[in-house]
Amino acid sequence: MGATFIAGCIFAVEVCVTAFITPFYVDWDYEQYCDECKDIKVSTGNNSQKEAMLREKWGPVDRGTLRVDKPRTIVDRAGRIMVWILPEVLLPTFQAELHAATKDLDAHIASNLRNSINSTSWRSSRKLFGEDTAYIRSGFINISPGWYMPGHSAKNDKPRATPLLHTPSGELFLQCAHKAFPIMSGITHIIHPEQYKMGRAIQESIKRRKCTSNTIRNWPSAQTALSIISNRETPFHRDGLSRMSWYDMLTSIGPYSKAPLYLSPLALRIDNRPGTICAFSGAAIRHRVRKCNLPRISFAWYMRENVREGECIEPAGWMTQNRYQSGRYPSIYCCKGRTTQ
Ligand SMILES: *[C@@H]1O[C@H](CO)[C@@H](O)[C@H](O)[C@H]1NC(C)=O
Ligand SMILES: *[C@@H]1O[C@H](CO)[C@@H](O)[C@H](O)[C@H]1NC(C)=O
Repeated sequence: MGATFIAGCIFAVEVCVTAFITPFYVDWDYEQYCDECKDIKVSTGNNSQKEAMLREKWGPVDRGTLRVDKPRTIVDRAGRIMVWILPEVLLPTFQAELHAATKDLDAHIASNLRNSINSTSWRSSRKLFGEDTAYIRSGFINISPGWYMPGHSAKNDKPRATPLLHTPSGELFLQCAHKAFPIMSGITHIIHPEQYKMGRAIQESIKRRKCTSNTIRNWPSAQTALSIISNRETPFHRDGLSRMSWYDMLTSIGPYSKAPLYLSPLALRIDNRPGTICAFSGAAIRHRVRKCNLPRISFAWYMRENVREGECIEPAGWMTQNRYQSGRYPSIYCCKGRTTQ
């Protein structure tokens, strides 16, 4: 471990601690709110009426839009931590490492977008992407050591690695980001230890099947999937395949200075300068990033509920403020009652 890596870890811990001791309290019962979101169909249907109802009932949490540019947590009245905001927590040297690693995937990112031309999802809609830039070409790619391809489920299939991980470029990519990704994974451990343990248990379980490639052995995160998206504006949306008590972790890098992240119905505006990490459930909280005139690569780490289910690992619950006070550290169990931790 080099000195830069250690300095980066120490800085990340400092930012997490600052966010933890600087909560913004919201008079919500987050669990009840999440219950009300459950029947929203993310990928299909027009939910604007339902979303308007949720906004009316739950938002905004401050008088107007609450702007956040410092480390903070957003906490409900039961002490559940809904959002972590960690401004510029990834130091420039790790942002540069992420850029170099992603730049090597340029061609994959761009061709994946070209190949999605017939997709009806807004996620690959050409009009949301800016022009290719020298910094990075426009497009997106999903990477996971184990998930179900469209049309497959835990009932009739085994989780598979995404195609890129079967290529030398995929391996190289993971190797190149060998400091930034572990730091992000370490942050997951701090901000939601149970989710971290669950993620590791899921990966151990997939490994034990011996049906996966080597890539899972080198997978640099407790989270089981990563989406990389370059030069795209992101309309308000939810990500539906995760679980509301878990965090997705979003960060972006690039030469831009402004690309605020908006969360609804909280009415939160996060400055989101390069290297900022925001953690929250993308299934529970709608989010948007407006068009940005300079290149921007965003990285979204997340987990899928059907992969957890398929591996029979108990789900992690809410992260709460008293997690570190209770002294009781729950372990994660297999279906069969065997401790995997
Ligand atoms: C959804 O419904 C609203 C009105 O309820 C309408 O304004 C909007 O255009 C619709 N969006 C789509 C994508 O159909
Ligand atoms: C998109 O659809 C058109 C028309 O059906 C087809 O010719 C083309 O090959 C498809 N392209 C891709 C990348 O699937």
